[in-house]
Amino acid sequence: MIEIVDLAYARVGTADLPSAVRFATETLGLQLVREEENRAYVRGDDRDHDICYVAGAPSDHVLGFELADEEALRDAFDTLKGAGVDVSHGTPEECNDRRVQQFITFQDPTGNKFDLAVRPHKATRRYFPTRDAGINGFSHVGLRTTDARRDEAFWTTHFNIHPNDWIGDAGLLSFDHVHHRIALFPANGPGIQHINFQVDSIDDVMRSWYFLSSQQVRVVFGPGRHATSGAMFLYFEGPDGMVYEYSHGVRLIDDPNYRPRQFPFTPEAFCVWGAKPDIPEFRS
Ligand SMILES: [Fe+2]
Repeated sequence: MIEIVDLAYARVGTADLPSAVRFATETLGLQLVREEENRAYVRGDDRDHDICYVAGAPSDHVLGFELADEEALRDAFDTLKGAGVDVSHGTPEECNDRRVQQFITFQDPTGNKFDLAVRPHKATRRYFPTRDAGINGFSHVGLRTTDARRDEAFWTTHFNIHPNDWIGDAGLLSFDHVHHRIALFPANGPGIQHINFQVDSIDDVMRSWYFLSSQQVRVVFGPGRHATSGAMFLYFEGPDGMVYEYSHGVRLIDDPNYRPRQFPFTPEAFCVWGAKPDIPEFRS
């Protein structure tokens, strides 16, 4: 069993790196950490970076998870290899690019790309954004899946990942007490479907709703509240069609007797307030 201890980073391809950086800093509220050749690193917490934008194909996405140590990484390599998964080690240059000591990389059955990394760098200074969106952390990622049940079984078989709820076939999955760390949304192909940042309060969600609207940013869902996690949310679209989410109040599950619940794949299950998603993966 591969024990994930944290989310590490997302790597997101972009056709227009300056626009991606401008949106991330001036609109989303992340801090620019560094720009290197064809790359820009941004963060909204104490990680070295939460997102690395890479100039290239906008469909090229990688999600990085953190493992506890090198022994866990060796075991993970053997587990995936033994399961017939194509897995390889990152080169020293690739480790440096990700600011991790070591990592291995593989794909899920849909073709989503993942890194398992050890000792990702922490930031040496506190997060200090140019726009105060109230962000306090990188919290979860929505992934596309061509077969949600198959991919959920992949994660629950080989990893310390379990479902906490389902909306239709879409599993809201976690490796710790946060209601969901990844969610698998049925779609036609792989990719990161949305990237979530938690914010300090409902005031931050609503303040951003007015701000984003004034900036002509396309709000694609919300403000609303999820029936599953209880989080109040706002989804909006950035460059390259990437959807970002602010949310506040995600449920923490500490009850050992908690059982995952099945919700129907309806707009009401996505939002108890009545907001209608303008997100293809959230519509039946
Ligand atoms: Fe979300």
